[in-house]
Amino acid sequence: MLDIKMTATTAPKAKPADENKLGFGKIFTDHMFLMDYTAGEGWHDPRIVPYAPFPMDPATVVFHYAQEIFECLKAYRTADNKIQLFRPDCNAQRMQDSADRLCIPQIPAEDFIQAVKALVEVDKDWVPRIDGASLYIRPFVFASDVGLGVHASKHYTFCIICSPSGAYYAEGIDPVRIYVEDEYIRAAPGLTGFTKCGGNYAASIKAGELAEEQGFAQVLWLDGVEKKYVEEVGSMNIMFKIDGKIYTAPCTGTVLPGVTRRSCIELLRDWGYEVVEDKIAITDIMKAGHEGRLEEVFGTGTAAVVSPVKELDWKGDKVFISEGKIGPVTQKLYDTMTGMQWGKLPDTKGWIVPVCQG
Ligand SMILES: Cc1ncc(COP(=O)(O)O)c(C=O)c1O
Repeated sequence: MLDIKMTATTAPKAKPADENKLGFGKIFTDHMFLMDYTAGEGWHDPRIVPYAPFPMDPATVVFHYAQEIFECLKAYRTADNKIQLFRPDCNAQRMQDSADRLCIPQIPAEDFIQAVKALVEVDKDWVPRIDGASLYIRPFVFASDVGLGVHASKHYTFCIICSPSGAYYAEGIDPVRIYVEDEYIRAAPGLTGFTKCGGNYAASIKAGELAEEQGFAQVLWLDGVEKKYVEEVGSMNIMFKIDGKIYTAPCTGTVLPGVTRRSCIELLRDWGYEVVEDKIAITDIMKAGHEGRLEEVFGTGTAAVVSPVKELDWKGDKVFISEGKIGPVTQKLYDTMTGMQWGKLPDTKGWIVPVCQG
């Protein structure tokens, strides 16, 4: 149990005037959580302090060698004004898995959850009230040793910041076009694909920018060895419904194990669908698309929950899905997940973690 020291801001910021214009990741709350790590001492000095910039030496390790990991989750306000989280234990566990791969000292899951809950409670007035909006929570850890040289650091900083964010589908659910990336890769066996480290995202920006220039929402990554099997999308896992079965890439080291992915798989199996977590070749998906057997395609991730895909483009070949509309399984997943998250449906799975009264 952390003994969190609290220093309240003396200059609270004005809350956003119009929650319909929040956007994503632009506004930050009044406070942040901090905790330091020193080799030999462990994690120490957990504290909530006013949100402020870090003074950092230009030689700090993270700037040069990207020894950094992060997480993403949200706090939701229910109709009866309770603030709640969705499966924060899964984020805590994934952060530990990322930490292990990046040689960053792990944070006990109960401390991670306590820190998230404490910060959300302090800044609870920042959790948006309008339908579909939420408080985005960004925990991250970075190496804070000062000095050049590629080694594990002896000092780290754990920080959590929060950002009120608008409804992802403010204009209604809009199926997206996805570019199947054939040149660049995101991950390969033995690398860091299963972690949420900043470096994975830095390496993915170029492909994302090129795809965006051509009007695609995101890229679909193929495996890094043969460029044959589908893995995941820029910031989502991806599922394909073919002949009634749902296929998704396995989490065997190169794919981020999404919290939304595993939640959707559990729900789909509860509903009687066969979900196959196995390698699936892009050629088989395109073939199914051309033969009218590719019934639905959707991304899964914390930001959008589910994101229906209407078009896949691979080496100039195109398939169109669900006549550009959201499919029934995608819709049912969206309704069920968001229903539980915002407290409109009962939490039949034990996934909701209450924080406080709003
Ligand atoms: C690369 C990548 N894959 C998948 C996901 C989906 O993960 P989650 O459902 O935990 O948000 C994300 C988003 O966090 C991501 O960045």
